[in-house]
Amino acid sequence: MVSVQEQYDAYPYPERDPADEAGRLITGSPSHPLEIDHFLFQGQRDWSQPLRALVAGGGTGDGLIQLAQVLASAGRPYEITYLDLSVSARRVAEARAAMRNLAGITFVTGSLLDAPDHGTFDYIDCCGVLHHLPDPAAGFRALRAALAPGGGLGFMVYAPYGRSGVYPLQEAFATLLAEAAPKDRLEAARAVVAGLPEGHPFRTNPNLSDHLQSDAGFYDLLLHSQDRAYDVTDLNGVLEATDWRLLSFATPALYDLARLAPVPPGIDRITAWGVAEKLRGTIKMHVGYAVPADDARDVPKGRDRTLVPHLRGVGAVALGRAVAQGKPVPVRMGQVTTTLSLPRGMGRALAAVDGRRTVAQIAATSGLDPIAFGSGWSQVEHELCDWGLMLYSGLGK
Ligand SMILES: C[S@@+](CC[C@H](N)C(=O)[O-])C[C@H]1O[C@@H](n2cnc3c(N)ncnc32)[C@H](O)[C@@H]1O
Repeated sequence: MVSVQEQYDAYPYPERDPADEAGRLITGSPSHPLEIDHFLFQGQRDWSQPLRALVAGGGTGDGLIQLAQVLASAGRPYEITYLDLSVSARRVAEARAAMRNLAGITFVTGSLLDAPDHGTFDYIDCCGVLHHLPDPAAGFRALRAALAPGGGLGFMVYAPYGRSGVYPLQEAFATLLAEAAPKDRLEAARAVVAGLPEGHPFRTNPNLSDHLQSDAGFYDLLLHSQDRAYDVTDLNGVLEATDWRLLSFATPALYDLARLAPVPPGIDRITAWGVAEKLRGTIKMHVGYAVPADDARDVPKGRDRTLVPHLRGVGAVALGRAVAQGKPVPVRMGQVTTTLSLPRGMGRALAAVDGRRTVAQIAATSGLDPIAFGSGWSQVEHELCDWGLMLYSGLGK
C-alpha cells in the first residue's frame, strides 16, 4: 500500500513548474485575502496588522503563493507558516516563493496534526487535505487548537455527488494494484480507465477532469489510498464535533435552496443546504469558511455603508454597462451556468465599484434615491456576493 506521504512525494500535487510564476498568478478559493476578509472579518479587517496564517497541507503552494503575493502586492504585512508532510511538494512551493521573491514564509515539513506546535493563527487555510487524513476529525480538532481568538478557517473538502464514479474506481484499484509502486500503479490504472465500458459513471461524469491534466492529477483522483467525501450533513457534523461552526460556503448561491425549489417553512439552514446539494448534483468539492463554535459572526451586508465592495471575475465598467442596457449577464461557476438578475437602475452604481469606494460613495454616484439604491443594492448582493463575484474588504484602502 502506498502511503499518503509516499504518494505526494512521488507526485507532488498539484503539478506545478516554478518557472510559470514569471507569467501568471493562480488565484482561487479559499484564501484570497479579499475572500478571507469578507467571510471571516466582516470586510473590516485592519490590514495594517500582520496576518498570521497557517497553510496546512500546503502542497506545491497554490494557496500559499496566492495569499503571500496578493498581500505583498498590496503592501500588507503577513507571517505565513507552510506545513506539509511531503518534502517534494515543499520544494516546489519554496521554489515558487523564491521565483516571486516572497519573504515572510516559514516552511515546515510535518503533520497538520501538530499544527498547535507552530503557533496560533488568525487564518488557517486547509484546502484538499482533511479528507485524506485517516481520522479527519483529529485534523479539524488540531486546526481548531491552532486558531487565535477571532480567527477563522478556509477549507476545501471533497463532496460526493459531483465525484460520482470516482470511489468505485479507487476501491477497485486499491485491490488490483495494492502492491505496485506509484509509477506502475499509474500506468496500469491509466490503461484500465482508457478501456472503461460505455455508461460507466466515471466516463459519463462531465465534472471530472483532474485525470486528464497531469499524472499527479490522475493519481490524486483515482489512486489515492486515503480519500473520502463529505456531504453537507457530514461536513457540518464533523465541524460541530470538533468545535467549529460552518459560517458560509464561498459560493453561497450554489447551496441556496430557494434558487432550486420551494423552501419548506421552518427548514434549518444546514438541512436546506444539504437538500440544495442533492438537487444540484454536481458539487464535487465544498469550499467554505468556519469559525469557532461559539462565535456568532456573520457575513457582511452593505447596509453598513462604510464597507468597500470589490468585484471579482467581472469588470465593473462592462458589467455596469450591460446592466444599464438591460442585457443578460451570463456567469459560469464551476459546473453551473446561470444568468444574473440585476436591476437596470444599478448600472451606474456597479460601474463605480473599484475596490476603493465605500457603499456610501457608490450610492452617491448612482443617481438613485436612498430607498431605490437600498433595494437595488440588496439585489446586487443577492446575485454578486452569493455567486462569489463581489466581496467586501478594505484591503485596497
Ligand atoms: C491534494 S494536496 C493539496 C495541496 C494544496 N493545499 C492545494 O490545495 O493545492 C494534499 C496535500 O496535503 C498534504 N498532507 C496530507 N496529509 C497531511 C498531514 N497530515 N499533514 C500535513 N500535510 C498533509 C499532502 O502531502 C499534500 O501535499
